[in-house]
Amino acid sequence: MTQDELKAAVGQAATAYVLPGSVIGVGTGSTANHFIEALANMRGRIAAAVSSSEESTHRLRGHGITVLDANEVESLALYIDGADEIDYSGCMIKGGGGALTREKIVADLAERFICIADESKLVRTLGSYPLPVEVIPMARSLIARRLRAIGGKPVLREGFLTDNGCVILDVHGLAITDPPEMERELTQWPGVVTIGVFARNRASACLLGTHHQRLFPHDTTDTAGLGLPSGEERIE
Ligand code: 5RP
Repeated sequence: MTQDELKAAVGQAATAYVLPGSVIGVGTGSTANHFIEALANMRGRIAAAVSSSEESTHRLRGHGITVLDANEVESLALYIDGADEIDYSGCMIKGGGGALTREKIVADLAERFICIADESKLVRTLGSYPLPVEVIPMARSLIARRLRAIGGKPVLREGFLTDNGCVILDVHGLAITDPPEMERELTQWPGVVTIGVFARNRASACLLGTHHQRLFPHDTTDTAGLGLPSGEERIE
């Protein structure tokens, strides 16, 4: 199977977790797009979606799926989204598509986050993928200097503004050995909107597409009662 076929397979498999009549959180990126395609075939069965980007909102509405503003919901049972990297504890790097802040907001609204990813995304330690940091434009140089001071090599994502009108610094060369601590520390810096480490909002489970054409729920923090679809296995 190609990487895209693996993404499509987990996108399809994720629909098994969607409760009929529910409002569901929907992520951003090529894997999430496959989930949106799969969701389109069951649009009569969900009430609405809360989206993590203008791009996903556009796609969802294109399929006739109602998209609610995040301010209209108190909580979501489930958020489905991809990742750039995920470790064995469910911590992730996200934001390759630049939607990290809205993704973190939707993840925070959700009781459960199921990450959908092809097997290349599973890592022992986060950080090979450059860490996206969303920054208010006037703080760009300040934050870049501070990132260099902790050993990172920040690169401005040229010609790109987030849905929130901010810039992204992609930080190379950081070994993220303590994701919760890095998230806590960097998100306190004035000018940082958020960073692409998802530790506080780590995945509850990961549907991992592998070349053996199997989908593996990656058991992380709170899969008890998740109701794993049949034919799937856990990896430890
Ligand atoms: C977007 C994201 C995506 O989930 C992440 O970049 C993975 O993308 P893809 O599914 O295309 O590999 O965080 O901001």
